Amino acid sequence: MSGSKNAALPIMAAALLTGGTNRFKNIPTLRDIDTMAALIRQMGAEVVLERGAVSIATSGVQNLVAPYDLVKTMRASILVLGPLLARFGEARVSLPGGCAIGARPVNLHLAGLEAMGAEIDLVEGYIVARAKRLHGAEISFDSPSVGGTENLMIAASIADGRTTLINAAREPEVEELARVLNKMGARIEGAGTSVLTIEGVPELHPVEHAIIADRIEAGTLMMAVGATHGDVLIRNCPLEQLESVVAKLRAVGVRVESTGSGVRVSADAEIVATDFQTLPYPGFPTDLQAQMMALLSVARGVSVITESIFENRFMHVSELQRLGANIVVRGRAAIVTGVERLRGAPVMATDLRASASLVIAALIADERTTVSRIYHLDRGYEAMEKKLRALGARVRRIKGKG
Ligand code: UD1
Repeated sequence: MSGSKNAALPIMAAALLTGGTNRFKNIPTLRDIDTMAALIRQMGAEVVLERGAVSIATSGVQNLVAPYDLVKTMRASILVLGPLLARFGEARVSLPGGCAIGARPVNLHLAGLEAMGAEIDLVEGYIVARAKRLHGAEISFDSPSVGGTENLMIAASIADGRTTLINAAREPEVEELARVLNKMGARIEGAGTSVLTIEGVPELHPVEHAIIADRIEAGTLMMAVGATHGDVLIRNCPLEQLESVVAKLRAVGVRVESTGSGVRVSADAEIVATDFQTLPYPGFPTDLQAQMMALLSVARGVSVITESIFENRFMHVSELQRLGANIVVRGRAAIVTGVERLRGAPVMATDLRASASLVIAALIADERTTVSRIYHLDRGYEAMEKKLRALGARVRRIKGKG
């Protein structure tokens, strides 16, 4: 498995807090990583990306702006707001706006920074934030936001005094960010629980760090193995971060075993239906909902999938239907009645994880499926077609057809 995209992005943003040169390894080769690199480079940082590593030196940062043309291609660009404001006292970050999977507001990020002393205005589509010096605060999230927790944790690392984040996100990527910030000299406690305390320090120093493996990539592969009745050994698989996913996979008939050399996933039995809902970590991740739906579309019986995190994350349903899946959406629930087989067709990726679900469906569909708009796939999966081809899939990238 490659390095985790969702861990790498906030860590690259956190590099804006230190002088000197940071070096991060196990960085996946992805469009979102290129976008984050471009974003901090245009601020004046020196960013060198090569062979799975990135070096970031921020002493030249002068332009405290995240422009709309970059933010609109990657919402995680909002993660530069906290570090810019905390270190330089100022930031102008374009409002991300909606995206295919829902409205995705950033109110929790902004309310938290305001509680820490920032003055925030919205001017011509930009968040304009100022604070001579941020101070600690007690901030309670209405619902745990991953990006919100990360933005505030980064900012609080060099704010005056103590910040407490209550009902914080517990995702492994949040924990990894805390690990890196602590390596940089921050004083963060409670990462991985829902209460984080951050004792601000005057400054942080650069570090070298290898990023954790991508649990979402691993979960996606497990679902592909289940759907194709394969037998695969996954190396560098963060199994301990996939407990709720593995429990569901076992419930539907997929075998997942930890061995000395990796995690072996196989499926020789029939796949059976199950119900599940997406939840914040350690619940079933919304980022694997679409892929699990592809697997359940050929299970015996009826499955009910409830999407509790994003209001509109069923864009893949109509594309899966084009392949013959029997799925009905009722509000936040999708009712999937398993069919015996799927049939190939041209389909269109609508977002990152939806595109992975279409690839899984295509692997088991009769005849040929062409998935277009795979730039979505390239945002978050490193060389997916090569990894699948190495496992025996008949898949190729058609040049010129993004
Ligand atoms: C991160 C992940 C994304 C994943 C998501 C949920 C990264 C780069 N992206 O996105 O892959 O799908 O977590 O696990 O790590 N919300 C608000 N106000 C806010 C912020 C969020 O209402 O200010 C809501 C969102 O609309 C959503 C929920 O909170 O309904 C969770 O969103 P959040 O955890 O913030 O997701 P991201 O950090 O954007």
